[in-house]
Amino acid sequence: MRRISVLAGTGSSVHRRGEGAIILENVRAVSKKGPEMTEVSDAIRRHHQELLSEMESRVTALMGGEHDDDAQRLHGFLESELLPHATGEELHLYPAVEPLLAKEAKSTSTMSVDHEFIATYIDELGTIAKALKVASGAEREALESRAKGLAQAVLAILKLHLEKEERIYLPLFEKELSDEEQQAVLAGMHQHL
Ligand SMILES: [Fe+2]
Ligand SMILES: [Fe+2]
Repeated sequence: MRRISVLAGTGSSVHRRGEGAIILENVRAVSKKGPEMTEVSDAIRRHHQELLSEMESRVTALMGGEHDDDAQRLHGFLESELLPHATGEELHLYPAVEPLLAKEAKSTSTMSVDHEFIATYIDELGTIAKALKVASGAEREALESRAKGLAQAVLAILKLHLEKEERIYLPLFEKELSDEEQQAVLAGMHQHL
């Protein structure tokens, strides 16, 4: 049976299965529910959970290399379920939320959520790296598998996050702020390096 590897440097099918599951477990672990849930927002959250759950089982199947058509099945799900969900949000949810974000001055908070996810993954990776110093055998294999899954997750988030900063924030920053204001921001950022 031909296996399709989407993760560079992966080992056995067991490793691949583990990695797919880990990425989504972590996404769930840092997701938070608001205290003021309405019937509609609850429905949207539940739909997200369904999408995640379906995605998890399809990624797990693909990582495990159990069927030749797992990639096709995953693609079919993404095309028929995830993309229409995104289109619906673009056309209806986002226009409804945009003025609210501006009103509440929260338009950068989605980027802060990215930072929160990245920090969570870095923490976990640190814990694994420490454990790997003394681990051996099956425990070592499991830890390495988790590390690979986390590395892939951080890479995917980082690519998207940097693209958003460079495509949306920096053009506004360049256009609307004076050289002095830009320098002051840079100086502030350098204090944290
Ligand atoms: Fe969504
Ligand atoms: Fe950032």
